Amino acid sequence: MSSFILAIDQGTTSSRAIVFDRDGETLGQAQKEFRQHFPRDGWVEHDAAEIWNDAITLCRQALRNAGVEAADLAAIGITNQRETTVLWDRRTGEPLARAIVWQDRRTADTCQRLKSEGHEALVRERTGLLLDPYFSATKLGWLLDNVEGARDLARQGHLAFGTIDCWLLWKLTHGRVHATDATNASRTLLFNIHTQQWDDDLLALFDIPASLLPEVRDSAGEFGRTDSALLGATVPVAGIAGDQQAALVGQACFQPGMVKSTYGTGCFMVMNTGQAVTSENRLLTTVGYRLNGHTTYALEGSIFVAGAAIQWLRDGLNLISHASETEALARRVGSAGGVYLVPAFTGLGAPWWDPHARGALLGLTRDTGIAEVVTAGLEAVCYQSRDLLEAMAADCGQRPTTLRVDGGMVVNNWLGQTLADVLGVRVDRPRVTETTALGAAYLAGLGVGLFDDLDAVASHWQRDRAFQPALEEVERERRYRGWREAVKRVCSDSR
Ligand code: G3P
Repeated sequence: MSSFILAIDQGTTSSRAIVFDRDGETLGQAQKEFRQHFPRDGWVEHDAAEIWNDAITLCRQALRNAGVEAADLAAIGITNQRETTVLWDRRTGEPLARAIVWQDRRTADTCQRLKSEGHEALVRERTGLLLDPYFSATKLGWLLDNVEGARDLARQGHLAFGTIDCWLLWKLTHGRVHATDATNASRTLLFNIHTQQWDDDLLALFDIPASLLPEVRDSAGEFGRTDSALLGATVPVAGIAGDQQAALVGQACFQPGMVKSTYGTGCFMVMNTGQAVTSENRLLTTVGYRLNGHTTYALEGSIFVAGAAIQWLRDGLNLISHASETEALARRVGSAGGVYLVPAFTGLGAPWWDPHARGALLGLTRDTGIAEVVTAGLEAVCYQSRDLLEAMAADCGQRPTTLRVDGGMVVNNWLGQTLADVLGVRVDRPRVTETTALGAAYLAGLGVGLFDDLDAVASHWQRDRAFQPALEEVERERRYRGWREAVKRVCSDSR
């Protein structure tokens, strides 16, 4: 059997395709940023047709760059920005409107109303999520109510809903397969994570017709085959997972208690819990992966701004001209020296979930300079990670001893060390930091039998570097207390 796998990683700001061999080595890749639409304050949209056209073009480019023919591929894996909502016409394969992106806040009032009507307990119990505009259900409801004729078309059975994975699968199979995997379904607010079924009560609550919904399948297994006209051969699509869950797989966090954190635009910390754990600390309970009908659950903390804070220091304040400069600046001063940047630009995510909080720069003195402010931006990423780790420890009654990190920011060694210092746990950086795409490739490999089981996948994980905590505990706690004070100052209800 051929042993190459093509992974499509469709993210929030860019799409990429990577060809891996069965050892997880990258043979060739292609990447492209795409257009973000901000039609109003708090609205974020993507053109689903553009996403599809880019994805297929990138697949062809990645194959060319790798010197691999589609006929040599064992499988394709898909991983994607989660929650982003696409609604299309089954007859034409055309989206009815632009996709509403996970960051979009237009349905905040709907969520507030449902909360005040007392529906959050049911939603939490069935989905493991919160009533927040972050998730798909209220976005889909908005499209049905606001795109002219959409409800009628839905009643006639002409419409299909999907997250980005589902949309790409539909297009790759030329409309033959309308399916998603359990990790993506678990982010919609419509899926009962305990029964692994779409939930009729939730469909009624959000007024979503069941006819729109895709079939929900395991994360590994043959979903369908690509249309031969697209890549020159039919290839099985055999693995699908939301990007944070794919990173959990790429990081080989297969034992309960193992945690990974991905540092991109935002930061998503996910802990494998095996069984579903109900959070008492406002984390999300979600599907980690579903294999052979068996669901492995996870706890997730989502921070909306991590790398985006560094972007802001670069593009908004012009304090630096490239993100790579942050490491030298932070090394020069050692620490932000009491300056705290709380990057609540679009509110605060877990564990605060405060959409009305806004950012702040605190603790400035006459000698505060660019280096301290930039360092405060990096430290904020570490302190927010600590907030999540504490919440996870409290929910599980056990503190993780190691954190596996990945994503664009972790090339910064100072950040790796400071994370270890602030968290008080060892921080492991793997050799391959493209863990999201790698996870999708592993799932696809499992789906076609290229790997026997998760142990075979885990044997490929290799550490590049371990960062050990080196800061005195008293100092660690003193700095973290300062962060908690700073967060208190920006929260809308001044907790
Ligand atoms: O839940 C949103 C998340 O899946 C987005 O990830 O990496 O595309 O910013 P990313």
